Amino acid sequence: MCGIVGYVGFRDAADVLMDGLSRLEYRGYDSAGIAIFENETIRVAKSKGRLADLEQKMQQDGKPSGHAGIGHTRWATHGEPSDRNSHPHAGGNVTLVHNGIIENYKKLKEFLISQGRDFSSDTDTEVVAQLLDYYYQENHNNPIDAIIRVRQELEGSYALGVVFADFPDRVFALRKESPLIVGIGENESFIASDMTALLQYTRNYYLLEPGEIAVLSKKKAKIYDLHYQEVRKELKTADWDVSAAEKCGYEHYMLKEIHEQPEAIKTTITPRITDGLPNLEECGITPETLLNFHKIHIVACGTAMHAGTVGKYVIEKLARVPVNVDIASEFRYREPLVSENDLVIIISQSGETADSLAALRLAKSLGAKTLAIVNAKGSSIAREADMLIYTHAGPEIAVASTKAYMVQIAVMYLFAFELALANRRIDEAECRRLTALLQETPDQITEILENKSMTQMIAMELITADSLLYIGRGLDYALSMEGSLKLKEISYIHSESYAAGELKHGTISLITENMPVIAIATQKGLFDKTISNIKEVKARGAKVILVCREDYIPDADIADFKFGLPDFDDLLMPMLAVVPLQLLAYYTAVHKGTDVDKPRNLAKSVTVE
Ligand code: M6R
Repeated sequence: MCGIVGYVGFRDAADVLMDGLSRLEYRGYDSAGIAIFENETIRVAKSKGRLADLEQKMQQDGKPSGHAGIGHTRWATHGEPSDRNSHPHAGGNVTLVHNGIIENYKKLKEFLISQGRDFSSDTDTEVVAQLLDYYYQENHNNPIDAIIRVRQELEGSYALGVVFADFPDRVFALRKESPLIVGIGENESFIASDMTALLQYTRNYYLLEPGEIAVLSKKKAKIYDLHYQEVRKELKTADWDVSAAEKCGYEHYMLKEIHEQPEAIKTTITPRITDGLPNLEECGITPETLLNFHKIHIVACGTAMHAGTVGKYVIEKLARVPVNVDIASEFRYREPLVSENDLVIIISQSGETADSLAALRLAKSLGAKTLAIVNAKGSSIAREADMLIYTHAGPEIAVASTKAYMVQIAVMYLFAFELALANRRIDEAECRRLTALLQETPDQITEILENKSMTQMIAMELITADSLLYIGRGLDYALSMEGSLKLKEISYIHSESYAAGELKHGTISLITENMPVIAIATQKGLFDKTISNIKEVKARGAKVILVCREDYIPDADIADFKFGLPDFDDLLMPMLAVVPLQLLAYYTAVHKGTDVDKPRNLAKSVTVE
């Protein structure tokens, strides 16, 4: 939530900051702002709305010009989206941008008011600016001393980019919880919430650890620990190039990312397969370690939780080990029954989701072993888990997750195959067969992606609907949850996913001719049962869109439209069937004219509870 950038160097700082913010806008887009040193004074430009609104404002008022500054794109937490609540916020000598939440801001604000300070916004961030200025004055105008003092006072999560009016050639940064990296170029340095903001300028960066302070100047970036000791860090190099964070001719990032799925699967699974069998040893997982776990908990949010639900079905079916799937925000507060013999798997694209991170910490405190399945390298969840499997989806920019989901389920399959082999529920030949099928999925998906016209056409039928149902049984039900979420988050059409056999216990009363039903029927073993449920809704007037195998020809009393999929193993069908669901959501949103990549009220990385 919120993206921050900072720059010191030889380029036009406003250009660098605006460019960086445009790549971080997926983290929040309620308002935006920059602060630049212009002739040694700080000039701020900020505006409610998207970056385009800020651009427009700067065209009218003049763009701040200089070579050092900070910038912010906001997802509102404290205070409505408005010009006055937009970042940067100032207090005396200090101007700053903030990603995160200051939990004790009320107490701090009362203290500052008692010291005669006035506030001009409703944000928790302004409290940090005022407090920093307060300690700056008390600490004889030493910025680092003031930052260290403030760090002792602040409770919550934060990444801060700070400029002090007395230090026009410096940008300061402080991090706790919320992500922040320090980019290193030739005669320039940067801070950013993630690397995508900097790829155009450098691929070299330091990962700032919680509690560390960075001081950026044109020539170098210095990093200090809690005790003002300089920290020597390993310079990392991002393995993404600029195109990874660009649309490359696609109309939206979401469509590009849907098309990147075959490659993302290959990059994720290939290094984890040796001689035709899964091999997760480099992730700290061996057959011996797997045998220690009596129970598995999968904990995540949103799409990642849906990937975990597919994982549950596959692990239980193949390996016969019990799996609970939990929404992280529930898990962390419901005193879950987790023991030392349990494995807790946290799935997260960003690796920074606040509830998932808290769930991980809780699981560790209960003595469980933890495994993170994470896309963002060096993120908090990745660093804190006992074992780690990185998914290699590359940067996912669209708020609606697609390729990250795909590789999360690919990893779930590999994990399930290895576990089932370890506890002898399947033999080596079966494990090889399944692994080979998983390796075939990229080609199957490529084929499905070549036939988008059907989903485009069906999407036209959905745009007038107020509400929809997604139904399925078994793995199709697990998948329907993701289909439904995708549609509602970007098209704003209400939808629910339902176990097809559960409909007649209440929900079927909602069915009318105005309620389209997306029926997923890919599981051969459950096919006839699902078809019976489809007939029940069709008989009550629903328009049915059927996702099934290509060779099935439905009668008119079953479906109005069919999306056919290649004939493939039941177990792996979710990897194929999710693609038309993603495309259906995408084209429905496009036909409705919504902001596909940045749907309203959402942010990509949810670092607040
Ligand atoms: O970064 P994470 O995978 O932890 O994010 C979890 C959810 O916020 C995320 O999957 C969300 O549901 C997506 N926007 C859905 O497309």
